Amino acid sequence: MDLKVLRAVILLLMIQGWIMSSPAADWLKDAKWIGESGETNFAWRLKDAELALGVTGVKGHRLVLTRPLPKDCLRFRKVFPLAGKPIVKATVAVTGLGFYELWLNGRKVDPLRILSPAMTDPEIGAYYDTYDVHAELKSGEKNALGVWLAPGYSDDFSRYGARWLAPQRMILRMDVQYSDGTKDSVISDDSWQSSRRGPIREVGIYRGETYDATMEQPDWSLPVDIVDGWARACVFPDGPKPIKSEMPSVRMSDPRPSISIHETDRGVYTIDFGQNRAGVVWIRAKGARGTRIVIKTSELLGQNGRIDPWTNRDARSTDTFVLAGTGKQETYVPRFTYHGFRYAEISGYPGKLTENDIKAYAVHADVKHTASFLCSDETLNWLHGAATWSMLSNFVSFPTDCCMRDERTACRMDSQAYEDAACQFFDMRSYYAKWLDEGGLPTRGNPDWTGDVVTLPHRLWWHYGEEKPFLARYPAAKSYVGALLKECPDGVWRKGFGDWCAPNNGTWKGYFNDVELVNSAIFCKIVGETAELAERVAENTDAKWFRAAAELAREAFHRTFYHPESATYGDGSQTTAVLPLAFGLVPADCRQNVAESLIRRIRQVDGKKLDTGIYGTRYIGEVLCDLGEVDLLLEMYTQPDYPGFGYMKSCGATTLWEQWRFKGGMNSHNHAMFAGGASWLYSHLAGIRPDRPGYASILVQPVFPKKLNFLNARRRTPHGDVTVDWKRVGSEINLRVVAPNEVPTRLKLPDGRVLDVKGCIQVRI
Ligand code: BGC
Repeated sequence: MDLKVLRAVILLLMIQGWIMSSPAADWLKDAKWIGESGETNFAWRLKDAELALGVTGVKGHRLVLTRPLPKDCLRFRKVFPLAGKPIVKATVAVTGLGFYELWLNGRKVDPLRILSPAMTDPEIGAYYDTYDVHAELKSGEKNALGVWLAPGYSDDFSRYGARWLAPQRMILRMDVQYSDGTKDSVISDDSWQSSRRGPIREVGIYRGETYDATMEQPDWSLPVDIVDGWARACVFPDGPKPIKSEMPSVRMSDPRPSISIHETDRGVYTIDFGQNRAGVVWIRAKGARGTRIVIKTSELLGQNGRIDPWTNRDARSTDTFVLAGTGKQETYVPRFTYHGFRYAEISGYPGKLTENDIKAYAVHADVKHTASFLCSDETLNWLHGAATWSMLSNFVSFPTDCCMRDERTACRMDSQAYEDAACQFFDMRSYYAKWLDEGGLPTRGNPDWTGDVVTLPHRLWWHYGEEKPFLARYPAAKSYVGALLKECPDGVWRKGFGDWCAPNNGTWKGYFNDVELVNSAIFCKIVGETAELAERVAENTDAKWFRAAAELAREAFHRTFYHPESATYGDGSQTTAVLPLAFGLVPADCRQNVAESLIRRIRQVDGKKLDTGIYGTRYIGEVLCDLGEVDLLLEMYTQPDYPGFGYMKSCGATTLWEQWRFKGGMNSHNHAMFAGGASWLYSHLAGIRPDRPGYASILVQPVFPKKLNFLNARRRTPHGDVTVDWKRVGSEINLRVVAPNEVPTRLKLPDGRVLDVKGCIQVRI
């Protein structure tokens, strides 16, 4: 063999060795999917599972099965020895079809983590998580791993195409590295024990959890021999493809005490936690063995002072804690469910419930806050807070529509309406990356329903500038828009949801608004954005093609919907002018007239109130600020009557509702879709915007409503913080802008001045 060939072979072997030993490839190597002993139904692909389980129909949202899946928990355990050498590294990779909890030597690893693994369609794969367990292991001794497995997004999970429809199963591998370079590993296989005997008797995300502490087995995850009630696990021949999860974990956070506890009936307590959120209730009690404490949750309070679970619809949202009667205080927090609530009702509590005995945790994906906002107007501050909690409450391992009722499904339309606000308020990079990948390549759906295939990568690029991961989604965007163009070559859409949930007086009718116009406008927007993405990935022919298609769609839009006599589009409602103005669909010579008719409409017909659904609300702030009408906008946003954000606030809301009415039709009090109406607080009121993608250059263009006396907003960009801080002093405004030193930043003032910020600038206006 000559030297060159030898070198090539060595290189090849090295590369191969590297690939084989690279962590990504090895995390679950040789581990088997395991389940309950005696389980004979191996099916996990949706179609096979449906057959095996005998799906006979759908009742409400639930599947009707001839063989319903268990609603209790399965547990696995494995005792293993470790060599008597110092351990330098130890990691566990684990996932399940069903929510899991990882235990080691009697303790939960990562105690605040909840609702793992991240949801996805088993056909796509199963996201696995990794844990550093080095500190929990004992060298030279026996150790024990334990895994809880709950049903999770199983047969009673509503609507979302991806259910974990298979019998519960899990897969795990632990790798241990000693200081002398030797290694040990533990994998899931049939040497593990499994058991259904345990304290969680019943659990589901809608129904809640029943925890019977009399059935606890404290040593189940300790390195001891247990035989009674445990049998050999069974190995399934295959399972979904493991995918490493890179998204922030879903966690319990921000424990809050109650703000009031009332004994509303004998032995029935109503607890107010002061803030509506997705979360779980923690409780502490001391009492006789078998005492049943029942915890129900709700978003609303009834006339009689007791909880009103109306918005939960068919979700039972009830946790039950049965005391073991140890003679000491016992504590409980549900593990495999969550609720959407501000209030809780406790019955069956032994003795008197005090504020030290109960608190509420929030549950959401651990996305980091990247912005802060405070101004002199209470309603705008309220909106910022309510939008924050509505978004957080709907970030589990995918963006949900709501967090309280028997739904909690992935709704791309809702998500599209507030993705921009989400990127302003939080660091959404890895969260949305998972969401985009998981969505696959949808080739169907109206622009209002699935347009985020384009708008989301586009937004992520503008907010974070990380081109590679987001522009890698260009092929998906291209094929999606290609399919839309095929379906609707003239660009005028006839179907869809339109401006979903505009004010409709709380009736079932009228959820859909301006369907044709809204879908056609969003269509123009996404074809244009696809052209921009194509340009960035240097697909020049595509770019030209999409540009031409966008131009044609714009012409068709104007031709179809414009009424020159009134300078209005469609039926002339607010949204019908707001979207064309926001998306640049109004020809230059009509712009002034369209703007004037919009303002006239707001003042003369709509009584200076919002008349918008999720899309109109998303853009009206930007449009009115650009038209120099921020004072009018503030009136609309802060007036306290129906419909508007001020109305929600005056009704005591702490999160944003699904409808502008308090009750009626289908209505939750914690939907995130109207959070889109808060994104202008940063982009137009404080005026902090990327001038080029990723804030490669920055534009600060604040507006100064007469009603405001001060504003302080901070927004983290990929290059550092931008702060806009101003105060009215007499007839003047003192403005201070701080921006990252090295990034070109222009400050544009209402009087036409354009100033260079150069790190920091103070101006009098
Ligand atoms: C969801 C909404 C969603 C709608 C569209 C509802 O059940 O909660 O948020 O936009 O369905 O189908």
